[in-house]
Amino acid sequence: MDNNGLKKVAVFGSTGSVGRQALDIIRAFPDKFQAAGLAAGNNLKLLKEQINEFRPGMYHSSSRIDYTSKFLPLEEIACSPEIDLIIMAIPGSVGLAPTIAAIRSGKTIALASKEILVMAGEHVFKEALQQQVQILPLDSEHSAIWQCLSGEKSKPEKIFLTASGGPFYNYSHTRLKKVTAEQALCHPTWKMGKKITIDSATLMNKGVETIEAHWFFSLPLESIKILIHPQSIIHSLVEFVDGSMKAQLSATDMRLPIQYALSYPERIANSELPRLDLENMSPLTFKAVNYSKFPCLKLALDAARMGDTYPAVLCAADEIAVELFLSGQIAFTEIAILIEKALEKHTCTKQPSLEEILQADSWARSYVRTQGEAL
Ligand SMILES: NC(=O)c1ccc[n+]([C@@H]2O[C@H](COP(=O)([O-])OP(=O)(O)OC[C@H]3O[C@@H](n4cnc5c(N)ncnc54)[C@H](OP(=O)(O)O)[C@@H]3O)[C@@H](O)[C@H]2O)c1
Repeated sequence: MDNNGLKKVAVFGSTGSVGRQALDIIRAFPDKFQAAGLAAGNNLKLLKEQINEFRPGMYHSSSRIDYTSKFLPLEEIACSPEIDLIIMAIPGSVGLAPTIAAIRSGKTIALASKEILVMAGEHVFKEALQQQVQILPLDSEHSAIWQCLSGEKSKPEKIFLTASGGPFYNYSHTRLKKVTAEQALCHPTWKMGKKITIDSATLMNKGVETIEAHWFFSLPLESIKILIHPQSIIHSLVEFVDGSMKAQLSATDMRLPIQYALSYPERIANSELPRLDLENMSPLTFKAVNYSKFPCLKLALDAARMGDTYPAVLCAADEIAVELFLSGQIAFTEIAILIEKALEKHTCTKQPSLEEILQADSWARSYVRTQGEAL
């Protein structure tokens, strides 16, 4: 932070759903936050517009598009002394190396990219502890738990991650087989990037979030429960040893958890964020999750229990399977089949290094691609 209290932020994945919303918050508070670095992939048109608006000192993309700002690799932006906080919102394994580099250079990380903790949660938190670096959750569920635990000295006994259930919660297996990409991309309560929207429809997202919560809050997997809550108003709950529970409620708008992480430990007023109207909202309901209907969720929890390189294989296999589904090459129900095959075929490496985790990731990608083509 500079002498004027301006936090210099690098937004990784600036052209994506989380990245664009992070820039909305930065735009709303020019005296508090500055977009000092931007990183994106192929959406060069939008990135160029963002560079013209925010004038970051550095940027990264699939090719060079600007000469007023330094074009740097992701790791160099992550380590730059010009940056105080990194918003990591690039899906998949791409963000892992820059996240580790950022931690090693003492940067606070606001983490949206779930895959990083799923693949390498132990490494990330070990490094963060050594460097005394904060990893702040951006995902709405983990932000909710973080907010519920704020000021508490005791660990919770249980965490309840809420799930809307996605668009197909009441579908039969036969109906699920015929689901199209267009239908799966219509999430009932959240507007997000394509990959996470499909993961929400298969409930893989909730499995992945369970693994994230395990690392974020140092809780055993058995203490993390999933609860279907179709209204998505309660973003998660904690239960303490005395039976007392705390929940965090807010409108379904990712800008809120993003702003909380950016302004932490302060809360700041933002009239652009929607408020809940408690008197006029529909009743809040909860029910147990049906694991047998959503095999991706079960596979994620199995991979979490097996540990080592299995969670990395899970993530990579899911990413490619979702890609194949979105391009019309496999059916919705074949996503789980491909992930299961990859987990079964994988030769696990015990206590893997970061390099071994990335090797498992690339093995799973090519395995699922080949198997998917053969289906
Ligand atoms: N969306 C949400 O509400 C939400 C909530 C919680 C957590 N998350 C997590 O946050 C992450 C981002 O989600 P999203 O929904 O924002 O995804 P998204 O809309 O698909 O955006 C992905 C971003 O990453 C960039 N990117 C992709 N590959 C890249 C590469 N090789 N190098 C540099 N940049 C690259 C994309 O750039 P281009 O578009 O320019 O190619 C884009 O800016 C995911 O891990 C997701 O699970 C998302």
